[in-house]
Amino acid sequence: MRSLDRFLAALAGEAVDRPPAWLMRQAGRTLPEYRSLKDRYSFAQLYRTPELALEVTLQPLRRLPVDAAILFSDILVVPEAMGVEVTFHPAPVLSPVIASRADLERLRPAEPHETLGFVAETLALLRREVGSTHAILGFSGAPFTLACYMVDGVGSKGFPRTMAMMHRDPDLFLDLLHRLTDAVEAYLRMQLREGITAYQLFDTWAELLSPEGYARFARPFVRRIVEALAPQGVPSIYYLKGAAHLLPEAAGARADVLSVDWRVSLARVRQVLGSGAVVQGNLDPATLHAPPAVIREAVGRMLDMTGGRGHIVNLGHGLTPDIPLEGVEAFLDAVAAWAEARP
Ligand code: CP3
Repeated sequence: MRSLDRFLAALAGEAVDRPPAWLMRQAGRTLPEYRSLKDRYSFAQLYRTPELALEVTLQPLRRLPVDAAILFSDILVVPEAMGVEVTFHPAPVLSPVIASRADLERLRPAEPHETLGFVAETLALLRREVGSTHAILGFSGAPFTLACYMVDGVGSKGFPRTMAMMHRDPDLFLDLLHRLTDAVEAYLRMQLREGITAYQLFDTWAELLSPEGYARFARPFVRRIVEALAPQGVPSIYYLKGAAHLLPEAAGARADVLSVDWRVSLARVRQVLGSGAVVQGNLDPATLHAPPAVIREAVGRMLDMTGGRGHIVNLGHGLTPDIPLEGVEAFLDAVAAWAEARP
C-alpha cells in the first residue's frame, strides 16, 4: 500500500497492510540535518520561507518510513497573524499579552491570506512533492490552547494568568476564544484549499480544565471549527494531552480522530468512545530512550489494544531533542514488525 492509501484507510477504519505512522515533531531537532539548517536560519526564517519550510517538512520522509508529512510551522502563527509578537528562544514568548478588554480590542482578525500566505505556498510545494504518495497534514492550535499562550505570554505548567482571567472575567475570556475560533477556522480553510489530507487541532493545555470547564471553554470552540469544516470532507484529528479525565466530554468535540497521550490506554478510549472510534497515539516519547527490544514490546502492546485497525500510530506528545534517532527508527520498525507477525 502507498502511505497515502494506508493513511486514508486507517482514517476510514478499514483494513491496512500495516497501521500508518508519523511522529509529532518529526521534523524537529532530533534530526542532524535539521540542526545544520538551524545553524544558518532562525526557526521563524525556516517556517516563513516556503522553500525552507518544504525542505524541513521533507527531511523526516527521506530517512524514516513515516506515512505522513506534517507542515513545518508552529501553532503560534495564529496569534502572530492577529498582531501579537512571538519570539522563540526556542520556548515561545508572546507580547503584548491579553490582560484587558482594551488589549482584546487591539487584536485584528487573522486574514490568513494576507498574513499567512507562506503557509499556503509551503503546502502547494508540498503537494507537488508528495501529494500522490504521502498524507499531508495541516494543523492549527485549538482556541483554548492558543488563548493560554496569549494570556500568559509564555508556556508554563499551570498558565496562572489564563486561569485567573477565566474565573475573574469569563466573558472577556470567551470573547478571546470566539475571536480565536474565527481565526483558526479561516486559517484551516486556507490549508484545506491547498489539498491537505487531514488537519490536526492541538489542544495541549485543555488538560488543565475540569470536565465542566472543558465543556465551557474548550470543547464548544473545537466543535464549531470541526462542524464548520466538515462539509469540505477533510478529516479532523483532535490532539488532547492529558485527556483521561475528559474522555466522554472530548467525544462531543465531534472530531473524526481522537489523539491521546500515554496516560490513558487506547483500549480505554475505545471503551468510552465506542469500539469503532478511530484513534491516534500514544506511546510515551521517553520510551524511545529504551533499547530497541523494549520499544518493540511497548509498540506491540499498544497495537494489540486496537488490533491495528482505525489506529494512526504516533507518540503521545512531540519528540524532544534529547531522543536518540535510533529510538525513533526502532519505533517505526516495530510497527512494521508487528504487522508482519500478525496471523
Ligand atoms: O510536528 C511537527 O513536526 C510540525 C511542527 C510543529 C512545531 N510545533 C515545530 C516547532 C508543530 C505541529 C508544533 C506545535 C506546537 N507548538 C504546539 C502543540 C503541540 C505540543 O507540543 O504540545 C505547541 C504547544 C507549540 C508552541 C511551541 N513552539 C513551544 C512550546 C516551543 C518550544 C519547545 C520546543 O519543542 O522547542 C516551540 C518551538 C518549536 N516548534 C520548535 C519546533 C521545531 C523548536 C524551534 C527550534 O528548533 O529552535
